[in-house]
Amino acid sequence: MNNCVVGLQWGDEGKGKVVDILAEKADIVVRYGGGANAGHTVIIGDIKFALHLMPSGAVRDTTACVIANGVVVDPGTLIDEINGLAEKNINLDGRLYISENAHMVLDYHKLEDQLREAALGKNKIGTTARGIGPCYADKVGRSYALRMADLLDLDTLKEKLAKIVAYKNKLFGALYNAEPIDTEAIYNKCCEHSKVLSPFIANTTEYLYKAIDAGKNLLFEGAQGALLDLDHGTFPFVTSSNSSALGLGPGCGVPAQHVDRFIGVVKAYTTRVGAGPFPAEQDNEIGDTIRIKGHEFGTTTGRPRRCGWFDAVAVSFTARLGGVNEIAMMHLDTLAGLAELKICKAYKVNGKETTFFPGNAADVEAAECVYDTLPGWDEDLSETRTFDELPENTKNYIAAVEKIVGVPVTIVGVGPKRSQAIFRD
Ligand code: GDP
Ligand code: IMO
Ligand code: MG
Repeated sequence: MNNCVVGLQWGDEGKGKVVDILAEKADIVVRYGGGANAGHTVIIGDIKFALHLMPSGAVRDTTACVIANGVVVDPGTLIDEINGLAEKNINLDGRLYISENAHMVLDYHKLEDQLREAALGKNKIGTTARGIGPCYADKVGRSYALRMADLLDLDTLKEKLAKIVAYKNKLFGALYNAEPIDTEAIYNKCCEHSKVLSPFIANTTEYLYKAIDAGKNLLFEGAQGALLDLDHGTFPFVTSSNSSALGLGPGCGVPAQHVDRFIGVVKAYTTRVGAGPFPAEQDNEIGDTIRIKGHEFGTTTGRPRRCGWFDAVAVSFTARLGGVNEIAMMHLDTLAGLAELKICKAYKVNGKETTFFPGNAADVEAAECVYDTLPGWDEDLSETRTFDELPENTKNYIAAVEKIVGVPVTIVGVGPKRSQAIFRD
């Protein structure tokens, strides 16, 4: 059985937790997109893991981990993550496979991300400053790109770096009056990265095809959320990859027909970090209550997340975009105590009502939500372990989402820990 877990909102839906749970039955967990902009939290007992590049399966000793070609890899961050896991007695030797074709995020990408955002001022995207956009731009541009395979041939890497850094220095000097970057310093870091990462660099497509032929169970771990998808999200307030399930094929070479189940992860409400439209946002006491109760602060940047009601217009669209068969709804525990809950069932855009998520960010920005209002519940759900035990109002809330989105909710989150999940049937 091959499963794919994808976020259906603007990221941070709880994918890390769902992947960790499903990884129990997986032989291999595959990250196929994004980079260290992702922050996936896994909590096992008292130990908290915040994974950025490493697939969430890493915390299980017997699970192989693939960082596929679609990921942009910051080698320094990846090594920090490998070392951090080693400190918690988790060893990746012999079970980590990094695609030779994955592009490398280097210091000049992170610098460019910061310089560009600073220059945009109030129009900035609010990126994670992890160099994601500049690295994917170099990938598409081709002439100034470096891939993980380049760490295996350091002499050629040195030549390529000299050409790239000269180009970047001209560009950053002219556009941002920036100090020149030192090629030598970046090259020296790459030599260190090469020593640690070379044993893990592989042809991951071949590895995955052999695993499929051998009947292994694969679990694909999406990063970000479908509303941040470069082509289908709220452009330009998106990330630079196809973060919906559509990114799977190009991101790892495995076509979608090999996936038996696409599991879309949502929160029982909506959050967003960074700039961009968010029709159901509650920039008020309700949003503040959700933020505090749900600990809604970014895993990667620590920024407070914007919070709002569940947006069923957005999720109906992204569930379709992801070919989603079932939904995992996290954070139902967080909503306890709110007297009333709202679900956005339609948008009013320039006076016209629509249930289809608009194709451009300006219309999403202009959208006013049409809500259904449901009664809340006061019960603490954190110890609930079966669907039947959930309060009636919680079940009604889930049913209302299912009715609008048209996809069953099969996993329910009632707390951040691995054990705090309910499986329906
Ligand atoms: P990801 O990027 O989709 O993996 O999500 P993040 O890890 O960035 O953010 C999700 C946050 O919600 C993390 O702090 C999780 O520990 C936490 N979380 C996940 N599921 C639940 C849940 O059902 N209830 C509560 N209270 N917290 C949850
Ligand atoms: P996970 O995998 C939430 C957002 C940033 C910003 C926009 C562009 O943890 O769900 P980027 O650095 O990618 O150029 O930033 O995308 N963003 C995320 N928001 N969760 C994420 O990942 C995100 N990755 C990027 O906040 O608005
Ligand atoms: Mg996250």
